[in-house]
Amino acid sequence: MSRPLLQLALDHTALDAALNDAALLQDSVDIVEAGTILCLSEGLSAIKALRAQCPEKIIVADWKVADAGETLVQQALGAGANWMTLICAAPLATVEKGHQQAQRLGGEIQIELFGNWTFDDARAWHDIGVRQAIYHRGRDAQASGQRWGEDDLARLKTLSDIGLELSVTGGITPDDLPLFRDINVKAFIAGRALANAPQPLLAARAFHQRLTDVWGNR
Ligand code: 5RP
Repeated sequence: MSRPLLQLALDHTALDAALNDAALLQDSVDIVEAGTILCLSEGLSAIKALRAQCPEKIIVADWKVADAGETLVQQALGAGANWMTLICAAPLATVEKGHQQAQRLGGEIQIELFGNWTFDDARAWHDIGVRQAIYHRGRDAQASGQRWGEDDLARLKTLSDIGLELSVTGGITPDDLPLFRDINVKAFIAGRALANAPQPLLAARAFHQRLTDVWGNR
């Protein structure tokens, strides 16, 4: 297993606060995400500002789009994102249009696995060329007591066998990482555990220490 990347999710409601945290943390992470909350609060301005502030980083636009895949991918990647998310409930036609547009623009789409989806869906996404999915425990599910467990690991293993590269997110903390040691994880996505930490740089260091403990050095 290669060492997973670390992705910062910025789920702020105001752009200036998101940019402050991006400035503080960008050198400590591999990928910077305009989270769904930030995208819906600030729109494409958030993507443009993050691209200007983090010119060398992979930028993700986490819109969780369900329709108009071609247009919305064009907008997000045109504003400076490398990757954009589509929700797993999107029709296959939306996924296909979004994927094709992302390919034309040199980027990728990622399928957000939330709620209802099947392994047949995953095979269909892979068959049309999609290569990335995000395995997600929603913050509301987490708040209602949902914990990571063997069921998650089994689903991740099957998705990986289908050929999808997997990011894992949803209240992830450094202590969660060892659970995924046998899964081929592309990136761990952390929002609150980094941005809301009393000392965000120390929190980022704790993530990297745990990544090193389990997967070795970069
Ligand atoms: C919510 C998201 C979040 O950006 C993602 O889950 C990371 O945030 P946190 O670590 O705070 O859960 O996509 O839909």
